[in-house]
Amino acid sequence: MKTRKWWPHIALTLIGIMIGVIVFVAFMADIYPVPDDAPLEIPMPDEGADIPGPEWIFLLFWIPFWYFKGSMKKYLFLTALVPIFLIIIFALLPYFHKIPLHRIPLLGAFLRKTREMESGFIKSFIYAIPALILAVALTTGVYRSGHQAKVYGCDSCHNPAMGYRMAIPPTDVAKYYNVERAMQIGVGKYRAGKSAGQDSAGEMVSTAEADDVGGYKDANWQMRHMYEPTFTW
Ligand code: HEC
Repeated sequence: MKTRKWWPHIALTLIGIMIGVIVFVAFMADIYPVPDDAPLEIPMPDEGADIPGPEWIFLLFWIPFWYFKGSMKKYLFLTALVPIFLIIIFALLPYFHKIPLHRIPLLGAFLRKTREMESGFIKSFIYAIPALILAVALTTGVYRSGHQAKVYGCDSCHNPAMGYRMAIPPTDVAKYYNVERAMQIGVGKYRAGKSAGQDSAGEMVSTAEADDVGGYKDANWQMRHMYEPTFTW
C-alpha cells in the first residue's frame, strides 16, 4: 500500500473538499436568496427564525456578551483568548499523532486493539471520534445561539422606504458618529458587561439608580435585535 502523507495527499484532498463546500454554499445562496425586494415586497419582521443563515455563526461569537455580564463581566476576556487557543490547537493538529496516547493505560490498550483492526468503516469511525465530538459541539452551539434570529425579517424595517439610518446611510456620516451616535452611546451606555438591574460589580440596583440599565444599546442589544426585532430596536 502506498503511504499517504499530510503533504501532499491529505492537504490536497482537504483543499478539494473545501472548494466543493464553497461552491455548494454559493449554489444554495443562488437558489435560496435572502428576500431583498423591499420596499416592493416586504417580509414580516419576524420571518426567518429556524432558517439556517450565515448569521448563526457570528451569533455564536456574540454569546459571551450574553452571559458574561454583571458579576460575570470579569470573564469577558475569555472571548479573545478562546479563538487564539483554538487556532493554536488547529495549527498543531497535524502533530496530534506524536502525543504518546498509547502510554495512558486503558486508552493505550484500546488504541492498540483499534490499530490491529482491519481498515474499514468501524476503524475509521473510531479514529474520527474526537473530530465528531468537536463537530457536534460546534453545531449545537451554532444552533442554540442562532436559531432564534429572524434572519429574513431585516428588510421589513431596513429598506430604502424607511429612509436615513434604516437603509440609507446618514447624509453626514461624520456628524452621525460624532454627535448623534455619541449621544445614543452616552444615554444608553453601550458597553460590554452591562445587565439590567445589576451593576458591573454584580450588586442588584434599582433601575432608576443603575449606572448600567439594560436596555437601549446595551451589550446585548444587537443580539436581542435579531432574536426579537419587534421588541428591541
Ligand atoms: C421591527 C423593525 C426592525 C427589524 C425587523 C430589524 N431592525 Fe435593525 N433597526 C431597527 C431600528 C428602528 C434601528 C435603529 C436605527 C437608528 O438608530 O437609526 C435598527 C438598527 C439596527 C442596527 C444599528 C445598530 C447600532 O448599533 O446602531 C443594525 C446593525 C441592525 N438594525 C441590524 C438588523 C438586522 C441584521 C436585522 C435582521 C436580523 C434587523 N436589524 C431587523 C428596526 C428593525
